[in-house]
Amino acid sequence: MEVRVFLIVFVALFTLSNAVSFWDTFDIIWSPEHFKASPDGQVWSLTLDQITGTGFQSKAKYRFGMFSMKIKLAGGDSAGVVTTFYMCSEREAGPHRDEIDFEFIGNRTGQPYSLQTNIFKNGGGGREMRHNLWFDPTQDFHTYSILWNNHRIVFFVDNIPIRVYSNILGRNNFFPNKKPMYLFSTIWNAEAWATRGGLDKINWAYAPFISSYKDYQADGCEWNAPNPVCAHTTNQHWWDQYNAWHLTETQKRDFLWSQKFVTYDYCKNRQMYPRIPRECLLNPLQ
Ligand SMILES: *[C@@H]1O[C@H](CO)[C@@H](O)[C@H](O)[C@H]1NC(C)=O
Repeated sequence: MEVRVFLIVFVALFTLSNAVSFWDTFDIIWSPEHFKASPDGQVWSLTLDQITGTGFQSKAKYRFGMFSMKIKLAGGDSAGVVTTFYMCSEREAGPHRDEIDFEFIGNRTGQPYSLQTNIFKNGGGGREMRHNLWFDPTQDFHTYSILWNNHRIVFFVDNIPIRVYSNILGRNNFFPNKKPMYLFSTIWNAEAWATRGGLDKINWAYAPFISSYKDYQADGCEWNAPNPVCAHTTNQHWWDQYNAWHLTETQKRDFLWSQKFVTYDYCKNRQMYPRIPRECLLNPLQ
């Protein structure tokens, strides 16, 4: 009995000490009144209404690592609403930024959310992929993660690698690997382009739209100017080892399974890219 109580207290303390303090970790980047933390500080809600959305940014920036967030998306009629979790080298959408994006595009009631991922290097993007999800992302929290090292960027949904963006032997000349990046989470009005190419506008009768975040984890190389530890590649981190440069056998199987949820792939867009982008020829399973 006593042992059990001790264990419970121990587990509780351990969990608490592991919890991320929002205010130590992030800054609100606009409209603080559209941000709300739960009473225990562990769930962070972003609200979009007719006035504006909101967002937060990590204080730390990183070059390489593994970054995760649990997110529950705004439900109901969410057409035109975009919720994001992404990395970017700048706060503003500057002309030379690098970026690694998760963008969740809302839809009319009963129609599926679309998960768009994208990569920017030096201000250039156009590396979109879109996936449907195999669950309703508005019902529960799910884990969205970015693994980033100099060999590849992998997008995970609940630990399933849904997209592998390779840089095998440095052969991808559109691979962001020089600039440290911050982590961002935002909700905003993207009705101009997001749902069915901008045809479906936000129905403000259903506002406010609220997406919630929790359990942020950053295990990366923090960039502390002027002498960042991560300026030089060191192979001592688990996210920069063989198993993070290649998919494991289980991950390969999961990745191949997840490909049936792809609804758009820039690599196959011959109108936009008459010549297939070079990185598209790299084998994600290699
Ligand atoms: C929204 O639903 C429609 C109809 O099912 C679908 O064609 C579209 O891909 C969905 N997502 C977006 C972002 O438009």
